Amino acid sequence: MKRITIAIDGFSSCGKSTLAKQLAHHLHYTYIDSGAMYRAVALYAIENGLVNEGVLNKVALLRVLNHIHIGFEHDDATQSSETWLDGRNVEHRIREMDVSHNVTLVSPVPEVRAKLVHLQQQLGQGGGVVMDGRDIGTVVFPNAEVKFFMTARPDVRAMRRFLELKGRGAGVSYEKVLANIERRDTDDTTRAADPLVQAPGCLRHR
Ligand code: DC
Repeated sequence: MKRITIAIDGFSSCGKSTLAKQLAHHLHYTYIDSGAMYRAVALYAIENGLVNEGVLNKVALLRVLNHIHIGFEHDDATQSSETWLDGRNVEHRIREMDVSHNVTLVSPVPEVRAKLVHLQQQLGQGGGVVMDGRDIGTVVFPNAEVKFFMTARPDVRAMRRFLELKGRGAGVSYEKVLANIERRDTDDTTRAADPLVQAPGCLRHR
């Protein structure tokens, strides 16, 4: 049977990755979290002093971009794929609030997008893949056989993310999570490079 490509785009914290993981598990496909890659670049920038007071040193980032290594490895214990940055497992670290705050500094940079889109296309070549993100059905796999677009009210998404973070022991308030989600919605939909838009022919889920 032909192994197809499934693209799931939408706003943050809608449950895209939950749906993607379940679909991938059910179909015996590979799940790829493209947002984790942008988060890993943001973490690199934070840890290497490339973000100061909310401003990204883009020149310095572009100088090292080719040397930043991002990948995924399957963890047998959790039965899931985990994100690695330069030889270190950063799966949990990239979900923390400082990364969420700074990820939209790196995601609009065209060179960052070009690198990550290329990696995503390589990982997904040959099909049998479920990938979630913002531009999967529009840019990364415009010919994906199935495309979803997911959305929900910001307060519902914020509560979902807040409970997830609280469950992991993070001391963060609901208001801060909501503010971050609303800011990222604006950043993701208004950036010049590959903004979040619904691809034509999408299945829309609310
Ligand atoms: O899916 P997420 O919330 O973990 O993604 C984090 C950020 O990465 C999001 O605010 C925008 C960016 N992103 C992107 O620009 N393109 C993608 N394909 C996936 C994520």
